[in-house]
Amino acid sequence: MSAQVDLSGPALIDVIAEGLSRSFKELPARVLYDETGSRLFEEITRLPEYYPTEAERALLVDCASEVFAMSQARTLVEFGAGVQDKTGLLIEAGTSFGSLACYQPIDISSEVLVESAQSMGRVYTGLDIQPVVGDFTTYIALPESPRPRLTCFLGGTIGNLHPVERFEFFNRMGQMTGTGGYMLVGTDLLKDVERIIRAYDDSEGVTARFLLNVVDVLNSECDTNLDKDDFDYVPLWDALENRMDLRLRSRREQNFAIRDQGIRLAAGEEIRIEVSTKFTLEQVREEFESAGLQVEHQFRNDDFALTLARVG
Ligand code: TRP
Repeated sequence: MSAQVDLSGPALIDVIAEGLSRSFKELPARVLYDETGSRLFEEITRLPEYYPTEAERALLVDCASEVFAMSQARTLVEFGAGVQDKTGLLIEAGTSFGSLACYQPIDISSEVLVESAQSMGRVYTGLDIQPVVGDFTTYIALPESPRPRLTCFLGGTIGNLHPVERFEFFNRMGQMTGTGGYMLVGTDLLKDVERIIRAYDDSEGVTARFLLNVVDVLNSECDTNLDKDDFDYVPLWDALENRMDLRLRSRREQNFAIRDQGIRLAAGEEIRIEVSTKFTLEQVREEFESAGLQVEHQFRNDDFALTLARVG
């Protein structure tokens, strides 16, 4: 394993303070994924109501060999190292196809990264594993490795970005992938809205705990003393943008400070934590093409799509 490169961007406390000072309050999704949050998210992926994980896994079972046959990839780059069973499907397809030599997982959490790189290293002994600590909302200089690269962004996480951020992300991902390389992006598909909402409002309340964990993250990052009992989890469906809009709502007026900045939350005021966009196949294709990327193939099942694009 090579040394890790830390490129995690601006201090979280400054991003949080800025987001809570706006008239419409919004936090970066990073606040969801501390150690507890990452564990809760993994628990979400095992819930019966949360269909995207299983839908994408089933799709990968069907298309992983074809992805390698089309791309001939020698390096697999993955944004987000938490999704090991899916990564395993790609690695196994790549090694049995014979082209794959190197795996570069990128994650914002070095704990998650080190843990998963070590367990991967024990299973895939012939593979050169090079973990990279980094934030996918910034350009990440990847270590040199055999080309072409196949850069994957799984889990439907692209849907957590706003339209402009998606455009920038596709551009950056194209640059990181390099000419002649391939990109594989997972997107959750637009479907029965009730089913989508249930995926973000499970009966066991795991998703609510995942969102309320943000209160603990604020307290530890910003030295505040907020109480989870002063917040409710609010999952909204935005029918104009075709996306879930996941928020925390303050039950009462709250006044506190981050660094020297006074923050006020009115009773009933909401803080957006994340959006999760649901796509049509055509929309995904258009977004790739507007970023100058050539769509080679779109694999899909009832729920989910994987789009393979080439960087020209
Ligand atoms: N990438 C996941 C998604 O959009 C993240 C996620 C799952 C999530 N459940 C959530 C984000 C609940 C916020 C709240 O599906």
